Amino acid sequence: MLTRRTFFQSSIVAGGSLVAGAPLVLPARLFGAQAPSERVRVGFIGTGNQGMGLLKRFLAAELGEVVAVCDVNEGSFGYKELDHFYGRLPAKQLVEADAKKRIKSGVVPTCEAYADFRKLLDRQDIDAVVIVVPDHWHRIISVLALEAGKDVYCEKPLTFSVADGRPLIDAVRKHKKVFQTGSHERSNPVSQFVCEAAKSGKIGTLQKIVTKVGYNNKVGPGPGWQPMPVPATFDYRAWLGPAPEAAYHVDRCLYRFRFHYDYSGGQITNFGAHCNDMAHWGMGLDVGGPTEIECLDAKFLPAGSLFNTATETRFRCKYANGVELICESGPEMVQTRFEGTTGWLQTGYKGTTASDPALLKDCPPAAKGTSDPHSAHLANFVECVKTRKEPRAPVEVGNSSAVLCHIANAMIRLFPETGPVVAKWDAQNEKFIDNDDANRMLVREVRNPWG
Ligand SMILES: NC(=O)c1ccc[n+]([C@@H]2O[C@H](COP(=O)([O-])OP(=O)(O)OC[C@H]3O[C@@H](n4cnc5c(N)ncnc54)[C@H](O)[C@@H]3O)[C@@H](O)[C@H]2O)c1
Repeated sequence: MLTRRTFFQSSIVAGGSLVAGAPLVLPARLFGAQAPSERVRVGFIGTGNQGMGLLKRFLAAELGEVVAVCDVNEGSFGYKELDHFYGRLPAKQLVEADAKKRIKSGVVPTCEAYADFRKLLDRQDIDAVVIVVPDHWHRIISVLALEAGKDVYCEKPLTFSVADGRPLIDAVRKHKKVFQTGSHERSNPVSQFVCEAAKSGKIGTLQKIVTKVGYNNKVGPGPGWQPMPVPATFDYRAWLGPAPEAAYHVDRCLYRFRFHYDYSGGQITNFGAHCNDMAHWGMGLDVGGPTEIECLDAKFLPAGSLFNTATETRFRCKYANGVELICESGPEMVQTRFEGTTGWLQTGYKGTTASDPALLKDCPPAAKGTSDPHSAHLANFVECVKTRKEPRAPVEVGNSSAVLCHIANAMIRLFPETGPVVAKWDAQNEKFIDNDDANRMLVREVRNPWG
């Protein structure tokens, strides 16, 4: 029987026969207005800062039907900006209000709100999930979603550790699912232009890439901070999940988790997942990594502060093709600069420039509105769910960019003890060569029952 699940997964109707891998052409008369090729049914897991942003874009661009949302937070203030009110109930209300606006008569579909993502994954009528939870959950929820038969869009940084990558890649390929890493710069026409120009030799032979990640944009409590009572609307145990036991503080969780190594990797994995992904893209290295890496500088808050990721840092890598990559903290949130033998190109959140304006003659304008890079990246995912094509940021690409950020963090965390040390990296086997201390940092402890 052709169910919506088996339909998306395996076969394409073409000329009356089923042809694997052919473009999707489904006569709408087979299914009417609810043709599965028209409406992908999606669940959003994690409806905080970025989850709500993606949800709004998904609805505005009418990319599919959001039938369920999930968050361990019922709803509260205190996200990126303290007056942002997010969580599963605000998300449910947003989806239902949007449906009400569109459906002029008849029954308005409800959007179920779950506290436990496993209940959402159990639903057989959901084709795909958008996972926008803190990094320490990415691999776990993604793999369970893939095993439950869902296509997956998972936010960057794709993984929480180097060890996360292989099981995630294997699950995507074993279950033959569509998987998009949330590296939305891959769907930004300006980034596409600049990275492809660098890759195709428009600035001669590439020699050096300089990437910038923003300084920490939040200040957490210092040494001697006191735990806070857990709000009744927040399931803190479920939020911690695989992470080590820790006393509750609001600054540990919503949005600000990115400044704690137990859940994320600071701005090196946050913004670094974008600009270093673009560095790999521009040098034509979608899969792989450097041959050596060295931390040149790293500053941290005083011991005992709640935030423990580096506040400022600088690292350097060398690649087998001779390219040098330098990544450093600065006032720009995300910036990637390519330097070649005949010129340079630079792009980031503050704009795009070049050694010669002629290099940017054909550069498209920045996309806005329902085709902004986040929306375009979601649209590319939905399109691939329908066509079974590979999305713009496949799992292997997302993994390689994340691995670079993780090995940089290993060297950054060792820096206060070792100072600058050149570490040899075996990209194929994803291991440091002769550096046990750094290798120990490639695996993160996973608390049961998630181990
Ligand atoms: N592509 C981008 O430009 C971009 C921008 C911002 C954030 N992100 C990524 O999105 C992810 C989330 O970041 P954020 O800023 O939205 O954080 P956030 O804290 O604002 O939101 C995360 C939400 O996930 C919920 N959550 C945590 N564990 C959960 C679980 N087990 N099940 C269900 N919900 C759970 C939290 O309660 C919270 O509401 C991060 O990985 C971040 O790197 C990407």
